[in-house]
Amino acid sequence: MKTLILNGSPRKNGHTVALIDEIKSVLKGEIKIIDAYKVNVSACKDCRYCFTKKGCSIKDDMQEIYSDIEKCDAVVVATPMHFGTFSAPLFTICTRLQSYWPAKNNVREEQDDIKPKYGALIVTTGGKWVNMELLIEGTADFFFHYTNAEQIGSAYAYYTDTNPAKDNIKAIEQTRYLGQRLNELCYRE
Ligand SMILES: Cc1cc2nc3c(=O)[nH]c(=O)nc-3n(C[C@H](O)[C@H](O)[C@H](O)COP(=O)(O)O)c2cc1C
Repeated sequence: MKTLILNGSPRKNGHTVALIDEIKSVLKGEIKIIDAYKVNVSACKDCRYCFTKKGCSIKDDMQEIYSDIEKCDAVVVATPMHFGTFSAPLFTICTRLQSYWPAKNNVREEQDDIKPKYGALIVTTGGKWVNMELLIEGTADFFFHYTNAEQIGSAYAYYTDTNPAKDNIKAIEQTRYLGQRLNELCYRE
């Protein structure tokens, strides 16, 4: 079982990383973490290379991320909420998933080869308001659709300013549950 974890936090020992450590302690098999703030990935520029050819014309760190996404059995998106959704560098990575769009929508005949997988979302937020999850869950829905992943659930650590994620029992339990469920689903097949 190969799990890819995309970390959207700029903070080395922040709240998101605390929950990544929790899911790592449960997950079986191989784990690869990609730090969105450390990789060199630029935004999709709508050059439409992918309308006729497989892949992406921009040769940057996204090339390795495509390969990781295509081969993994599970993908975990872990991010602080920034302006209601993924952090900007993580969102930039998402824009590059656009290269999977033409084949999915019959614009290009040659299909991409993306392993079906399971996905989970982990979010940490400074505050909390009614329906604050709507935007980020919508973005995650896009992400999981494009990466051929079935989302199994989400874990949220709210109010991290006053309740650090590392002490948030509910968020830790939710996160560990996601890891256990990913193990069960991936080893069943
Ligand atoms: C640019 C920026 C935007 C943020 N936007 C939100 C927000 O929309 N809602 C919220 O509850 N917290 C927001 N926060 C707070 C972070 O989500 C929160 O501090 C988070 O737990 C930080 O996680 P980290 O330590 O892993 O980076 C924002 C923080 C930053 C730096």
